[in-house]
Amino acid sequence: MTKSPVLPPELTQKSHDFMARMRRENERYYEGTGKNRSAFVLTFGCQQNEADSERLAGMCEEMGYKICSEPESADLIVVNTCAIREHAEQKALSIVGQYKHLKAKNPALIICVCGCMVTQEHRCEDIKHRYPYVDFVFGTASLHRFPELLVEKLERGKRIFHPTEEEYLVAEGLPVRRESTYRAWVSIMYGCNNFCSYCIVPYVRGRERSRRPEDVKAEVRELVEQGYRDITLLGQNVNSYGKDSGGGYDFADLLRELDAIEGDFTLRFMTSHPKDASNKLIDVMAASRHIAHQFHLPMQSGSDTILHAMNRHYDTKRYLSIVQYMREKMPDVTLTSDIIVGFPGESEQDFEDTLSMLQTVRFDMLYSFIYSPRKGTPAEELEQVDPKIKSERFERLLALQGQIAFEKNQAFVGQTLRVLCDGVSKNNSALYSGRTEGNKIAFFEGAPADTGKFVFVRIDRADAFAFYGTKQQ
Ligand code: SAH
Ligand code: SF4
Ligand code: F3S
Repeated sequence: MTKSPVLPPELTQKSHDFMARMRRENERYYEGTGKNRSAFVLTFGCQQNEADSERLAGMCEEMGYKICSEPESADLIVVNTCAIREHAEQKALSIVGQYKHLKAKNPALIICVCGCMVTQEHRCEDIKHRYPYVDFVFGTASLHRFPELLVEKLERGKRIFHPTEEEYLVAEGLPVRRESTYRAWVSIMYGCNNFCSYCIVPYVRGRERSRRPEDVKAEVRELVEQGYRDITLLGQNVNSYGKDSGGGYDFADLLRELDAIEGDFTLRFMTSHPKDASNKLIDVMAASRHIAHQFHLPMQSGSDTILHAMNRHYDTKRYLSIVQYMREKMPDVTLTSDIIVGFPGESEQDFEDTLSMLQTVRFDMLYSFIYSPRKGTPAEELEQVDPKIKSERFERLLALQGQIAFEKNQAFVGQTLRVLCDGVSKNNSALYSGRTEGNKIAFFEGAPADTGKFVFVRIDRADAFAFYGTKQQ
């Protein structure tokens, strides 16, 4: 028997009790002032953090706060941080720095910082000493304790610094306030066991723990019933779903069961680690009704020497064999990847090997990053590549990928694609935008009623980043 990673029900109940207590306090405030207290939640980082923030906002609402879209009008500010690269941390610290003025104007304002950055002891200490107006801090394992820490802060007045818990567990049954009414995130597992030598995630998210299949299925079924059209399953390495639970039920099994749910919806998932991407998984996708033929398979580097130094446990040959199998089973698959440029020790030849893998695989889209040393990870200790060389390589990578993406997108011109419409485009208010099955952006002339619906768009033109087309009636 494996130990269940689920938070004991009495602790979830405790969280709900604190929410109820805070709600009564906020109701009293409303009776006294005629005003609702409001909360502002700001998120940095990946979809996992977005999903956590939807829980944080859900808890705020449950506690009687109205969610607002500006920090200036908030009584409670929650900053959910990321630690993946130096830049992400600096952005969060700079925003927290700006809140000093808000606190000076309104001393009753409560400021809380949580998430991956402050799960690191040294960042938690930074906040404690350099940002004295931050009221409380908690790490990723303590999401369910947010209401308790808030109440404690308000009742006792003392600042609280709580970077981690003894154990990282899965909290079921926390309220959620979803950003969208038609796209949803569903975390299926938390944490990571892989310790890629550059990466901070295993240190700030704990070991892998999978949610129970019945909990995931119930959540997806409910979303479909509520009319959600696009559901993304989340995990740092979804391919190792279930391994911590024992019993042999794996990610492909979960996908097959989710695919059996009736309704008009698309299922996606991220992220897959190439070391565990199985043929069984690809077979399930190819035979499915709802799973998008879209695969995000981070390659990180096209050099076997660097992949080894990154502790990735696959080589380029293995990577290519997965791609080949995938394209054999799903010729229409959209393939995207992550690349790190300038990992310690990356030679010109290693980098050229990456460029040549790009030419061989021809990804539809790449998320590329300049390597950023992370405190406490093995790669931080290695000899670093000159920053100028890193940026020069980064530019070369972008140029090549731009050309490949442009060419790949031309193949869609003339085709009619199903697009989930997101409403008026944020970048071009004359057009509507949406996402194709392959998760590519399409712009077209739409109507308000299209938002949140599937529409068919004939692609008239494409560049490296998007499609431009005409909606079909
Ligand atoms: N679990 C996912 C990745 C999560 S982090 C996976 O294994 O694919 C998202 C991406 O950030 C990684 O794929 C990697 O390309 C990049 N990344 C992680 N650590 C980084 C670092 N220290 N510097 C630059 N990029 C990094
Ligand atoms: Fe980081 Fe590697 Fe885990 Fe992804 S698999 S989160 S890159 S350690
Ligand atoms: Fe950042 Fe944490 Fe995600 S470090 S990328 S928010 S898991």
